[in-house]
Amino acid sequence: AERINIAIDGPAGAGKSTVARLAAQALQYIYVDTGAMYRAVTLRALEQGMSNEDEERVAALANELDIELLPGSDSQRVLVDGEDVSTRLRSLDVNRNVSHFARIEAVRHRMADLQRRMAKQKGVVMDGRDIGTHVLPDAELKVFLTASSIERAKRRFLELGPDPGISLEQLEKEIAERDRLDQEREIAPLLCAPDARVLDSTGKSADEVAGQIVTWALAIA
Ligand code: C5P
Repeated sequence: AERINIAIDGPAGAGKSTVARLAAQALQYIYVDTGAMYRAVTLRALEQGMSNEDEERVAALANELDIELLPGSDSQRVLVDGEDVSTRLRSLDVNRNVSHFARIEAVRHRMADLQRRMAKQKGVVMDGRDIGTHVLPDAELKVFLTASSIERAKRRFLELGPDPGISLEQLEKEIAERDRLDQEREIAPLLCAPDARVLDSTGKSADEVAGQIVTWALAIA
């Protein structure tokens, strides 16, 4: 079969990364978590005391950061300038700030450029917010993955570990706020591509959802 590119977009906590990773494994494709790239920029910017209003400094940082995505056994490992920051990318602090940094045009430009290079050889499953609409508009398969807001909050709650530091209700509010920022931003907002297949993961297992995507992919490739 021919290798294709698969774009998976959708709101926070819809299960994109788990499902994208499983589908990539089944197809022997490369999985690219683009949210992790925006998180990496955000983490370093916060560490260096930058605010999202320091657009020029953040842009310079994004341009010089070396971001490496390595396949991990149950999630993607992320190296920034050689340092494994995977766990720190999921902190509340990064969650709360990432959409503000992801609005910066130069940051988006740089990330989209890196992402297109990774997809050039085909055989990539890429998840994010603007992959089907903007980064890979020619992707052969586009999926828009959704789930109810309470289910999405529960998934992210579990990701925070035994000491979440926030209530489920508060987390649901913060996720809704992040989705709003992602949908309303000017450049490459979160949006369902007209040619995307909408898949609702509420009440479905990750294996079930990944299986559907693999079936679609095999029917095309
Ligand atoms: O997917 P994840 O929740 O890790 O993404 C974190 C944030 O990164 C999103 O809320 C969004 O602000 C930003 N992002 C983006 N474009 C992408 C992927 C993520 O703006 N393609």
